[in-house]
Amino acid sequence: MTTIKGEPQVKQEPIDTAYLDNVLEQNMQDPENLIMILQDISAKYNYLPREALNYVVERLNVPMSLIYSAATFYKAFSLTPRGKYIINVCLGTACHVRGAGKIKESLEERLNIHEGETTEDLKFTLETVRCLGCCALGPVITVNEKAYGGLDRGKALKVIEQYEREA
Ligand code: FES
Repeated sequence: MTTIKGEPQVKQEPIDTAYLDNVLEQNMQDPENLIMILQDISAKYNYLPREALNYVVERLNVPMSLIYSAATFYKAFSLTPRGKYIINVCLGTACHVRGAGKIKESLEERLNIHEGETTEDLKFTLETVRCLGCCALGPVITVNEKAYGGLDRGKALKVIEQYEREA
C-alpha cells in the first residue's frame, strides 16, 4: 500500500446533495449549528470533502473561512480522505511503558503508512492518542469505536488482519 500525502490521489465519489440538503434543513435555522452540520458530513464521508463544504457555503451564504476555522479547530475533523477504519494507538504513559511504541511501529510497517496518514485504498488511517481512559487494559488500540487491550505486536497485527479481511 502507498500513502496519501497532501491532496488525495483517489477518485472522489460525487457529493450526495440530497443528504446535504437534509442535514442543512435540520440545522440551518441556527448558525451555531455549523459544527453539527460538519459532524454529519464527517459521519457520512469520514472527512470533509471540499465539494460538500462548497455546497454548505452556497446554501448557508457563509464565508469559507468560517467553515475552515471550525473544520481545522476540531481534531475530529479532517479535510483529507480518511480510511474506513480509523486506528488509534494509545501512547499514554500506561500504554507506553507496556510497549505501545513498538505496536505503533509494527502497524506503520504493516500498513506502509506513518502516523496521521491513510492507506491509498482508503481502508486504514493511523492515528495516536494520549489516553483512551482504560489504562488497566494497556497497551490499547481502537479501530473506529472498538477497543482492543492487552496487546503486543503480534496481537495488534492480528486485529488489523481481521479488518483487512473485512474491508
Ligand atoms: S494510557 Fe493508554 S489507555 Fe490510558
